[in-house]
Amino acid sequence: MSPVTRREALLLGGIGSASVAAGVTGLILTAPGGAGAPGPVRSGVDFVQPPVRTASRGLLDVDLTAAETSTVIAGRSATVWAFEGGVPGPTLRVRAGDRLRVRLRNRLSEPTNLHVHGLHVAPGGNSDNVFISVEPGGDFQYEYRLPADHAPGTFWYHPHHHGSVADQVFAGLYGAIVVEDPVPVPAARERVLVISDITIGPDGHPAPASASERILGREGSSVLVNGQVTPHLTARPGERERWRIVNACAARVLRLRLDGQRLQLLAIDAGRSTGPTDVSEVVLSPGNRADLLVTAQSGTNSLWTLPVDRGGTGGMMGAGAQPNQQTVHLATLTVDGRPVAAASPIPSSPPARDLRTAAVTAKRQLTFAMGMGGMSGMSLTIDGRAFDPSRVDTRVRMGAVEEWTLVNASPMDHPFHLHVWPMQVLTDGASPVWRDVVNVPAHGSVRVRIAFQDFPGRTVYHCHILDHEDAGMMGVVLGA
Ligand code: C2O
Ligand code: CU
Ligand code: CU
Repeated sequence: MSPVTRREALLLGGIGSASVAAGVTGLILTAPGGAGAPGPVRSGVDFVQPPVRTASRGLLDVDLTAAETSTVIAGRSATVWAFEGGVPGPTLRVRAGDRLRVRLRNRLSEPTNLHVHGLHVAPGGNSDNVFISVEPGGDFQYEYRLPADHAPGTFWYHPHHHGSVADQVFAGLYGAIVVEDPVPVPAARERVLVISDITIGPDGHPAPASASERILGREGSSVLVNGQVTPHLTARPGERERWRIVNACAARVLRLRLDGQRLQLLAIDAGRSTGPTDVSEVVLSPGNRADLLVTAQSGTNSLWTLPVDRGGTGGMMGAGAQPNQQTVHLATLTVDGRPVAAASPIPSSPPARDLRTAAVTAKRQLTFAMGMGGMSGMSLTIDGRAFDPSRVDTRVRMGAVEEWTLVNASPMDHPFHLHVWPMQVLTDGASPVWRDVVNVPAHGSVRVRIAFQDFPGRTVYHCHILDHEDAGMMGVVLGA
């Protein structure tokens, strides 16, 4: 046992009564607004990962049954929704050029469907078609063909049935997808960490969102890593681990911090968009993923998510409601045992495409706004309109390179997500920044470039605060 530091003692003392309820709340501490992470906190359960399904000979053929299931969340029995009985569902591992065939079996009491977030695949037919509705008791066979040059990386799947996306994801329906690297990154082990949040109500079911949570975006009272509260991981000194982190929260922004170990960011979202770059924290909007190398040094350290200011409703809802600003303990890493030799160098990857020098064929602006009105008392719109699946909002010509200025006219951040085609965020930095979810800050704007080079068809873009998507902050894009 390592000696308890003064800071840790203060921390543990400070949450004396709260820690009795820690099993229920998932050890959420409200920080006084400091910048640093609290010291390490011991945790109980061993880290587990979702089961894995791996493609062989170019095909991964799986069933994903969406159904109610009984489980234990934060020490309490709970009835949640899950794929294949697990929160998260199985991790699907494929390679560029593979076919991914998923039989979605809807055993829920309401319609659902499936979306493969971040994959560059066709948006129509039985591919990544979010306009499909699979009725209760029904089955649907999806088939996604990954192009031979598909970017490697960490992706994820979740339902996308308009109007119930937040409810269904919050209830437990999500899982990771890994597209393998052509040249593996040497690591002692790889871990998938699907981070999600949920509130279990007094009846043992996921709590329905209140009116203000639907406007702010719901944040659960338990934050889970692979369905567990504060799991415990161990590594030997010198071991390099690869962590594939998915932010599957409906609305919570993660600002991840793990002090005392070496963190190198390989990518946010697909490919090798970033690194390796030494980092001290990683910020993930809902829907983003991080591909992170963690090289174990020594000691016991906790993985935290720190408060993020994502704005609020300004003066629009009485006092001006704001999302929670919480520091949450997510997991603990103990470094112990005999040191290992330094890991081999990280293989370089081909430089990412840079559209900053490309000829732009069209420019457009999308404006995100919140106003009074609508079902919940507030409207959430893009260009003044709420989502209508029968309308085309944006027509793009296949082969075009477009520049979109995303303007946020509201007092709350909106993480913008485009299906099928990744976006290059325009920055001054030397290396191109690619994302499939890009945060558009309150009263701010972001410029992105998109190469619509393949996959004609109809799909969507939307705010990845899933309550906002359900409220209509989504548009239809048609590539032809
Ligand atoms: Cu993660 Cu339109 O979705
Ligand atoms: Cu998506
Ligand atoms: Cu939003």
